[in-house]
Amino acid sequence: MANAKIHFDKMQINDLDAVMAIELDNYPVAWTKGIMKDCIKSGYHCIVLKIDEQIIGYAFLMTNYDESHLLNMCVDKKQQSQGLGRKMLKYLENVCRYCHSKVFLLEVRESNPIAQSLYQSFGFKQIGIRKNYYECIDGRENAIVMTKQLKS
Ligand SMILES: CC(C)(COP(=O)(O)OP(=O)(O)OC[C@H]1O[C@@H](n2cnc3c(N)ncnc32)[C@H](O)[C@@H]1OP(=O)(O)O)[C@@H](O)C(=O)NCCC(=O)NCCS
Repeated sequence: MANAKIHFDKMQINDLDAVMAIELDNYPVAWTKGIMKDCIKSGYHCIVLKIDEQIIGYAFLMTNYDESHLLNMCVDKKQQSQGLGRKMLKYLENVCRYCHSKVFLLEVRESNPIAQSLYQSFGFKQIGIRKNYYECIDGRENAIVMTKQLKS
């Protein structure tokens, strides 16, 4: 990755096959292409992270004036633990600030310590639990709700 060109782009409908491949590889219960299409059509901030022209990550962020809500964020398994998730979160925080959001909010599965540790180290604090929020292969799972206050 030393000389590779890493950059962010606005997600296009044409990107969804590559995005779905990463999604299915990472989540036992995955989003559908239809959900992703709806996010794009709704004007959410849907971004792809690329190395050269290859999609290696993505995120879906819903913003309004006061609050931005991270709906999904994922890095290709082959490219994880190299700082790309942190880079993407930083990029998303800048989008939040650009949109004048005061709060950056997300949910994370209780069983996902890697994402929790990323968010904690990035300044997110737990504000609550949503019981049985996520579907699992064998039932449902709680979500930890986290926020980061954004100073303007
Ligand atoms: C969560 C995710 C986006 C992180 O992206 P990443 O590129 O792997 O993360 P980074 O390399 O930027 O690491 C960021 C932090 O995550 C944690 N982390 C990353 N890989 C880790 C590992 N293998 N073991 C433990 N912690 C790890 C660390 O806290 C790390 O910070 P540090 O490097 O200062 O120690 C990625 O693991 C992923 O896509 N997971 C599957 C989908 C998912 O869970 N998305 C989040 C839904 S809420």
